[in-house]
Amino acid sequence: MFEKEVKELSEDEAKQELAYIASEMAKSDIAYYQNDNPYLTDAEYDSLKRRNEELEKIFPHLRRKDSPSQKVGAPILSAFKKVTHRFPMLSLGDVFSSEEVDDFIMGVKRFLNTSKDITFMAEPKIDGLSFSARYENGRFVQGATRGDGITGEDITENLKTIRQLPQYIEGNVPEILEIRGEVYMAKSDFFALNKKYQQEGKKTFANPRNAAAGSLRQLDAKITAERNLSIFAYTWGEVSERVWTSQEDFFKHLQEWGFPINPHNKLCQNLQEIEENFAKLSEIRSSLPYDIDGVVYKVNDIALQERLGFLTRTPRWAIAHKFPAEQAVTKINNIRVQVGRTGALTPVADLEPINVGGVIVSHATLHNEDEIKRKDIRIGDSVIIQRAGDVIPQIVSVIKEKRSQDSKEFIFPTTCPICGAHAIREEDEAVRRCTGGLTCPAQAKERIIHFVSRDAFDITGLGSSIIEDFYNDGILKNPADIFSLEERNQEGDLFSQQKSSVLHLEQREGWGKKSVEKLFQAITLKKKISLPRFIYALGIRQVGTATALLLARHYGTFAKFKQEMENKETGPLVSIDGIGASMATDIVEFFQEQHNQEIINRLLERITVEEYIDTTNYDSPLSGKTVVFTGTLEQMTRSEAKAKAQSMGAKVAGSVSSKTDYVIIGADAGSKAAKAQELGIKILSEQEFLELINK
Ligand code: IVH
Repeated sequence: MFEKEVKELSEDEAKQELAYIASEMAKSDIAYYQNDNPYLTDAEYDSLKRRNEELEKIFPHLRRKDSPSQKVGAPILSAFKKVTHRFPMLSLGDVFSSEEVDDFIMGVKRFLNTSKDITFMAEPKIDGLSFSARYENGRFVQGATRGDGITGEDITENLKTIRQLPQYIEGNVPEILEIRGEVYMAKSDFFALNKKYQQEGKKTFANPRNAAAGSLRQLDAKITAERNLSIFAYTWGEVSERVWTSQEDFFKHLQEWGFPINPHNKLCQNLQEIEENFAKLSEIRSSLPYDIDGVVYKVNDIALQERLGFLTRTPRWAIAHKFPAEQAVTKINNIRVQVGRTGALTPVADLEPINVGGVIVSHATLHNEDEIKRKDIRIGDSVIIQRAGDVIPQIVSVIKEKRSQDSKEFIFPTTCPICGAHAIREEDEAVRRCTGGLTCPAQAKERIIHFVSRDAFDITGLGSSIIEDFYNDGILKNPADIFSLEERNQEGDLFSQQKSSVLHLEQREGWGKKSVEKLFQAITLKKKISLPRFIYALGIRQVGTATALLLARHYGTFAKFKQEMENKETGPLVSIDGIGASMATDIVEFFQEQHNQEIINRLLERITVEEYIDTTNYDSPLSGKTVVFTGTLEQMTRSEAKAKAQSMGAKVAGSVSSKTDYVIIGADAGSKAAKAQELGIKILSEQEFLELINK
């Protein structure tokens, strides 16, 4: 990772390295907690730590105050203190239709043995993450996340940075009062944050909810303070004396005490009012300044709530009525064809921009040419589009009655729109592919983007727009060029082909000494890479992270893998459990391509691919089991949990089926948890999962 031995360094160089290490490790400590976004691998972290120790041994007078060696410390994982909720933070049962809401209401009445109408408080279901704020004698003393509902994390300092949360409350305040609600990020704040991140080449958040989670669970509360977070209060936990008798009454108190409550909370006397309210909220949903994903109904009278009580994880007196996938009608202005990393031509519809559930949608994927035929989609058509969660918008159907005379059929190209090479569709394949290979600029760029992506080399600072610029200017033509960039920059020989008056990156618009240095540091940090990452990074067709891991496990070293591929036989690959004939052909063909061989050889001259040592514990309670994670995990990132499960011999699947053995549910688990329950699959809380793996 570092070019020179410590003893060869000058004092200045040592000083620089020490500063660099302190800052990288501090960043890593913070990022560790940022949702699903670790900054350094464990190996990198450890190697920085070791380098720091060596440096301080030889240059003791240069030790910094903020040196990682000076941090006495609890292991990173327990950096957030744990908080055990005095009353568990529960979740809600989900329903999706008014029939089910009716069933719920009937169930409540049956339980209470009454035929009278029951009043419900209907509240928009805010799509954020729940918090608890504890007040003692009116003073805010502790904040916590929901965690697994039993234990959460202490986020007192982070909550203090949210201006909407009162620090002191006055009036008729119980001695102990725990207020619960939702922390969220307004849509406008989310867009602004992502825009800023995009410009800085940082990874953007998928939606406001993730942005809120990533901002709140920051070890450094200063970062939370920089993000605009908001809250709505809606329920309570421990209270020394409950001075309210209904949910409506509770909201009045909240308002007096200065907590923000949602302006659309509404009392409903019967099913009809509930349905009308749901319809109204569905309509205004997209114009609300924050995301909501349904409506929560709570029995208003607390005496009745108490009689109704709880099921295992959810109250019997409340339910969440979720919105269906969001749809809207708009017009197709044009159909374009994009070329991906493996040459696949994907048709994309340019739409008349439209707001679908708070997100402006201006494109939708059309998948492939058959899809266009099957749905008879033409340019100029009015179509129903649908957005579900974070998924790319899709076209559900064409509104044929609205089709105008000048709507135009789309003729799918048989040549690549980027490089002009033939685009061929193999028999039995749905996609047409450009045959230009890496001479096709679209494929070449996409391949570099893939190479530096998060599960591959994970080079921060090489965002897709930078790659695009560097590619177009001839600075980066292929993945191997990344690791010669610094050398070429030093020699004033940046361009492999194009000539330009700019000889050094520092001279480029938007670049300076600092940013260039940072980029090189980010690249240097990745000169050592694990075998599965390296295989994945190559961008072989059909080889995702899971297959890369299979290959790494099977071969152990890249040299062995490469050597076997030189025999041009698919047989050995097919014998690996999990690799089929078509995938094997793609892998062998990849290695036969001369261009690929050259790039691999150039890469191997400059980087080290680590040997893969299989540490899987095949003798664990998870060995051979299929597990699914859902909801937000609080004590570890999803990737960590996944890695942990895999290291214990488990297969991690994305969806729940009858083959699933365990479903591990984090906060706000949705339909997967419900499905697991339906199928009678064993459900584990995050805590139970931890106990199982630590057995
Ligand atoms: S009440 C026992 N009210 O939805 C009742 N929850 O699926 C506990 N949520 O974890 C929750 N808006 O994060 C309640 N007005 C609202 C809500 C709400 C959003 C979230 C909350 C909870 C999840 C339950």
